[in-house]
Amino acid sequence: MNTPRDIYPVPADFAATARVNREDYHRLYEESLRDPDGFWARTAERLEWMKKPTKIKNTSFDLADFRIRWYEDGELNVSVNCLDRHLATRGDKTALIFEPDSPDAPAQRISYRELHQRVCKLANALRALGVGKGDRVTIYLPMIPEAAIAMLACARIGAVHMVVFGGFAANSIADRVADSGSKLIITADEGLRGGRKVALKVNVDAALKLPGTNSVETVLVVRHTHAAVDMQMPRDRWYDAVVDEQPVECEPERMNAEDPLFILYTSGSTGKPKGVLHTTGGYLVYASYTHETVFDLREDDVYWCTADVGWVTGHSYIVYGPLANGATSLVFEGVPNYPDPSRFWQVIDKHQVTTFYTAPTAIRALMREGEEPVKATSRKSLRLLGSVGEPINPEAWRWYHDIVGDGRCPIVDTWWQTENGGILISPLPGATDLKPGCATTPFFGIKPAIVDANGNFIDGEGEGNLVITDSWPGQSRSVYGDHPRFIDTYFRTYPGTYFTGDGCRRDADGDYWITGRVDDVINVSGHRIGTAEVESALVSHDKVAEAAVVGFPHDIKGQGIYVYVTLIAGEVASDELRIELIRHVRAEIGPIAAIDFLQWAPGLPKTRSGKIMRRILRKIAENAPDQLGDTSTLADPSVVASLVRERHIP
Ligand code: PRX
Repeated sequence: MNTPRDIYPVPADFAATARVNREDYHRLYEESLRDPDGFWARTAERLEWMKKPTKIKNTSFDLADFRIRWYEDGELNVSVNCLDRHLATRGDKTALIFEPDSPDAPAQRISYRELHQRVCKLANALRALGVGKGDRVTIYLPMIPEAAIAMLACARIGAVHMVVFGGFAANSIADRVADSGSKLIITADEGLRGGRKVALKVNVDAALKLPGTNSVETVLVVRHTHAAVDMQMPRDRWYDAVVDEQPVECEPERMNAEDPLFILYTSGSTGKPKGVLHTTGGYLVYASYTHETVFDLREDDVYWCTADVGWVTGHSYIVYGPLANGATSLVFEGVPNYPDPSRFWQVIDKHQVTTFYTAPTAIRALMREGEEPVKATSRKSLRLLGSVGEPINPEAWRWYHDIVGDGRCPIVDTWWQTENGGILISPLPGATDLKPGCATTPFFGIKPAIVDANGNFIDGEGEGNLVITDSWPGQSRSVYGDHPRFIDTYFRTYPGTYFTGDGCRRDADGDYWITGRVDDVINVSGHRIGTAEVESALVSHDKVAEAAVVGFPHDIKGQGIYVYVTLIAGEVASDELRIELIRHVRAEIGPIAAIDFLQWAPGLPKTRSGKIMRRILRKIAENAPDQLGDTSTLADPSVVASLVRERHIP
């Protein structure tokens, strides 16, 4: 399957100077499995503890004795680790570079000293507004420095932050605010993305009119575009007005290693998004250690992860990992193709970025623009590239490697999930030979396994479902407010293991290739969307009787959203109604839920017990009607023939 041509060996300069070379990898990996307590005790010394942990790993995936606890008697504060402890040696070093949406707006450089002061001021303001340890705070901000400052300020006082991506609409905000019981929201007047304004405050106002959001006492509003917005006193307060008067020092809260740090909602197969809960000590050890190791961090690196802080990648690899490591992390407000498709590469030159971490969807979109916009820039500062969020197709990988990286820079294809806290499977640039499209090898302490549908382990070469058989420090501890759902979702499918929801192939070298989700989650441009969420948004429209949603392969987005809609009796299908339904879903969930195709379905293929056969709908959406498989269990086989005939061709 892999010809030798498809292997990109570790470049000699990386092998010579990398933090981890091939021999180190094998030695450390073996040690991490043989003696997890020793390995993770030593690794925890990278952080500054208020009380050093003596108990390291206390975990079991056995349902009768289930527990995930790391460093459980340790105490620390995440913001102290990301800020205070760098002041003596790196006070003047740039912590954050802010590159605004418009290249004409001035970039900002924020030193560790300044960041520390700004975080302390906000932390004091939050305390003055009655927010304390354990309280939940919603952050709904654009990609501006205040997003990182808000997260760190919460961490400083022990409040639990819950970031909502700016592409979510009022309903999605309200659901998350209600589920988390947030006391305060930090937002901005507006966001800016690709020259377009995002009405953040308007969305918050609409969300807070919805039921279940009464817990919110205060809304802090950052003046960003200076647009006029409604301020509802005394609930709404200008961020600068409450922060400016605060002192620049703030006593950090002592947190137990297992105290919650943040909640982040993510989509699964069923029901509403889950509040994935991460805790303090293990998360920070894991995020910082993987950041340093996978990106082979150097003191003078300028590191840029293009994710949004609304996703876990932004949490672990824009804010917590890099800042805990005293790195310089670039915060980019804009989009890859604004004002033109050369923007990423121009920003790399402008700030002399050494390490660039982005998603395959962005690479594919830019690849379509040809080499010219890339070649117009130098990119000489780059030494390492990264990919995350979805499988990267070999063609995009090679373009990234050969054109963007001029064939000089290794690519780390990092596989992980919101629930994981940090990277689980990835090459290490000084240790691992690369294969386009392959996530390669497990990180230290990670024990992947592949199981068949019956849960039997597949050894050696083979394909099946990916599980992880033992805990790691960055792992999520629960679903907020619903621990049974946590157990049911991740630990009951293949008992004794964490089930990832991903399919995976292990090749003859033992390298792991992630093949994509095996459940009803669609991965659109690296973002998880649950089919159930889109279906429930559709059936909330009064003309819709039933809906089924599936993913289909999409050239740029990886997967697109294909929906089948059955109208209630008497309603007539029309192009206007199609547009109305697509708009309706966008308004309910947010612009992130953009439907690509909507097909009218007089009926849906169901089993005799009434279960929708999505497998068949997926094949129709993929335009593979010859691969429908076994249809003998269908209640009414004629339904399928009509759907195939009427497949929506754009
Ligand atoms: O299907 C996998 C895919 O993204 C899912 C996790 O999505 P999320 O929780 O939003 O986190 C994304 C960023 C960490 C996974 O179940 N995925 C993520 N990275 C890769 C990937 N698939 C293949 N290769 C990757 N490198």
